[in-house]
Amino acid sequence: MNLIATDVDDSIEKLERKLLAEAKRPNHALDPYFYRSHLVHDLELDQLIFKSWIYALHESEIPQPGDFQLLEIGEDSLIIARSADGKLHAMHNICRHRGAAVCEEPCGNRATFVCPYHGWVYNMDGSMKAAREMHVLPDFDPAAHGLKKVKLVTYMGLVFINCDANAADFLGPLEHLRKPLGAYQLEDAKVAHKQTYRINANWKLVLENYLECYHCATSHRAYAKLHTLKDLEERVAPVVNAMLERSDAVTGIEGMSTAYRRIYLDAEGFGACSYTSRYGLFDGYLTGSRDGQPVAPLMGNIKGYDGGAGDYQMGPLTFMLNYPDHCVLYRFLPRTLTTTDVEIVWFVRGDAEPGVDYQVDDLIWLWDHTTQEDEYIIMRNSKGVNSRFFEPGPYHPEFEETLKDFVHWYLHTLETNLPKH
Ligand code: FES
Ligand SMILES: [Fe+2]
Repeated sequence: MNLIATDVDDSIEKLERKLLAEAKRPNHALDPYFYRSHLVHDLELDQLIFKSWIYALHESEIPQPGDFQLLEIGEDSLIIARSADGKLHAMHNICRHRGAAVCEEPCGNRATFVCPYHGWVYNMDGSMKAAREMHVLPDFDPAAHGLKKVKLVTYMGLVFINCDANAADFLGPLEHLRKPLGAYQLEDAKVAHKQTYRINANWKLVLENYLECYHCATSHRAYAKLHTLKDLEERVAPVVNAMLERSDAVTGIEGMSTAYRRIYLDAEGFGACSYTSRYGLFDGYLTGSRDGQPVAPLMGNIKGYDGGAGDYQMGPLTFMLNYPDHCVLYRFLPRTLTTTDVEIVWFVRGDAEPGVDYQVDDLIWLWDHTTQEDEYIIMRNSKGVNSRFFEPGPYHPEFEETLKDFVHWYLHTLETNLPKH
């Protein structure tokens, strides 16, 4: 845990002053204040995180009635469960009596959630089953005391939640990804491995690192050997254009190289970003692995290796990097002001056998290795940014463009949702 000095003078007025200063210095890294303020952190949870669409799990992880998984965001815990009728539900893991968490296990199967405190019982869809001895309270209505529900949608087997009852539509924005994303048949894919990396830095530093590849050439030797994203567009245009030209024919998927970009302030609805593009691997490399050679059978309908990788964004905090033989999902979640969980999920085709069709160690090597390199660099970033002597520098206009989009959305959201004072 990274401890930071508490700002005893923090206030809405101070936040307003800081936002004004940011407006006067656009296209620069953020002021340290935004990574250190508890007031800002709380506002972010209210106005950004809990109003955004967030990946929860893949449907196949909870296939049976009674299956459930917890999802931890900030200080909160959500339950994603499958009820007896096969439907999926998302709800707050907070008892409607005096607020105990009704479930502690991270995943499992059960018929009901029984609160450990006074024994209230909830069905897997969150509705109340029984509240012990509450019949003595004449106007107690069990139907009004179910676990609080959270919005949930499923797209190609990927389950997303949003804690805002008025959340913007997400399935519409995701539909723009159908042609290229559909090729992987994610509905029938399986989770070959998933891992949570707990990083001791503010969530924005962790996300900002993912949103730019300026650092790839210097921080990720193994990744940079394979992926063209580390170079300026004009330098790698011949490699990328050649891949785009052959992509549909080689993969057998019409529209494999579709590009679509409506993210952050430009998203169709708040917290409903959707993005896809296909970028090239250097000649001779087929997939994102240690040596660039396949590590699993081709996914879905894909017929061959075009030397490309599909890049996706789904909501503000969820990303996918899809190679012809496996897909890698990234999700960033704040836990505290100085702690962030990065979850990486590796998907392979549903009928692939571990140890036969793929080796988990080979499958995860590149992105496990790259994420450890990122952790190292993010920790150094956090150390410098938390210094009172840090003076923010300018963003690179091409490499850090998406990062700029994120920061604009971030600042705009704070500005338009300042608490009254
Ligand atoms: S807090 Fe859950 S039954 Fe009392
Ligand atoms: Fe990185």
